[in-house]
Amino acid sequence: MINLILFGPPGAGKGTQAVKLAEHFGLRHLSTGDIFRREMAEGTELGQAAKTFIEAGKLVPDDITIGMLKNHMMAHRHGSGFILDGFPRTLPQAEALERLMDELDLPLTAVISLEVEDAELIRRLRGRAATSGRTDDADENIIRKRLEVYKSETLPLKDYYRRRSVLQEVNGMGTIEKIFSDICSRIQAEA
Ligand code: AP5
Ligand code: MG
Repeated sequence: MINLILFGPPGAGKGTQAVKLAEHFGLRHLSTGDIFRREMAEGTELGQAAKTFIEAGKLVPDDITIGMLKNHMMAHRHGSGFILDGFPRTLPQAEALERLMDELDLPLTAVISLEVEDAELIRRLRGRAATSGRTDDADENIIRKRLEVYKSETLPLKDYYRRRSVLQEVNGMGTIEKIFSDICSRIQAEA
């Protein structure tokens, strides 16, 4: 069984690589950002609760996000493994995930951290704005806010996973195929 966390700043390529990895290894792809956007499009209560935070480039509060992720993991716990994309993003989320994975007896195979320079992140997100329909891509101030929030709230988790000896830093600059093959080699070495 393989369970992965894809870690990295906005625009690092988490979603792009997660889709390919999910297909290649037969994993369930859970993107908290995608789930929130789906709920927003459907106008659910959860979507409405998340909307103001997402549109401001801020994190959705932990209690909402953790509860949602738990529901999705519980529902799919009997599959061949998970790839988490965009979760965890805070220390309480990482701790809640660790408890949940213990409870469900799911081993954490690796945390793949995609390393990309800020200028390239901004270039990618601005490029995507025209086609993504994402309100948080539409304005450069919001893109910068997302990067700021990543640095202050999420980046410290790298140390958390480094201490657990599961952190794998991968160069996220280059072609999508080259990055994919680098990630696959790291996973094969761990699995
Ligand atoms: P989320 O949806 O997770 O967005 P994000 O982290 O800001 O990251 P993106 O989805 O923008 O980037 P990505 O790393 O997936 O890159 P992608 O593959 O798309 O979160 C959105 C919001 O939801 C958050 O701000 C927050 O409000 C809320 N939220 C979500 N999870 C939460 C949590 N756990 N807690 C609290 N709040 C949460 O690639 C980007 C672009 O680059 C694409 O156009 C792609 O085609 C291109 N690209 C990809 N790879 C390459 C490459 N190698 N070379 C050139 N271009 C590339
Ligand atoms: Mg994404």
